[in-house]
Amino acid sequence: MKPPSNPSKRIFVALDTTDLDRALALGRDLAGLVGGVKVGKEFFTALGPDGVRAVADLGLPVFLDLKFHDIPATVAGAVRAALPLRPFMLNVHATGGAAMLRAAADAAKDVTDGPRILAVTVLTSLGDEDLAAVGVPGTSHEQVLRLARLAKAQGLDGVVCSAREVEALRKDLGPDFTLVVPGIRPIWAAADDQKRIVTPADAVALGADYLVIGRPITGADNPADAAKRIADELTD
Ligand code: C5P
Repeated sequence: MKPPSNPSKRIFVALDTTDLDRALALGRDLAGLVGGVKVGKEFFTALGPDGVRAVADLGLPVFLDLKFHDIPATVAGAVRAALPLRPFMLNVHATGGAAMLRAAADAAKDVTDGPRILAVTVLTSLGDEDLAAVGVPGTSHEQVLRLARLAKAQGLDGVVCSAREVEALRKDLGPDFTLVVPGIRPIWAAADDQKRIVTPADAVALGADYLVIGRPITGADNPADAAKRIADELTD
């Protein structure tokens, strides 16, 4: 699937909060300036499906970042349970295996215009030694490529990946596989706790379709201005 032609629509803002009023205020501020919002386990555990609906009601596409990982039937059930929320993107762990990935992809086909199902390959918090400790030989880079290929073969629409892998994945998996990249920092923003950061424009140049950006926007004095500035950088 093609990335949006309007560069601002590539930006998904991470609403990492348990405070619905804050999430809605940010959503209202940013509607029209970004492509959508990402809500994850922190938001969802506190605010649940009602919280997701409240954000979606602002007219913002939602990336439901719940990273499902379970037996195939349970993951299929969770994907089906998420469909009424009409998420734009939804993700599962690629390490759940081929049958689980296929079950997730098939479950999303129960509706027309269903969500893009993405795979998480290797969490960026894990290094090569962490992988060795859980029995995965080789480098994290090799594991990311292996799992991304598996995800594609099982009918998933794309992966969430770090900027470090985006170029290799784009080359390997072709133009239609959706690549969603977090760890984005404009030059003028603080790195926070992100280590391997790239600028929005560089991430797109390397092959990213969507950028997940949190604190550079949500922590700015004026989030709408920060979002506009990033969109302008993508246009230049
Ligand atoms: O505030 P910041 O821009 O660092 O937020 C990035 C978002 O992307 C957070 O929600 C974070 O959990 C998520 N993320 C990440 N790195 C990954 C996967 C997800 O930063 N590898």
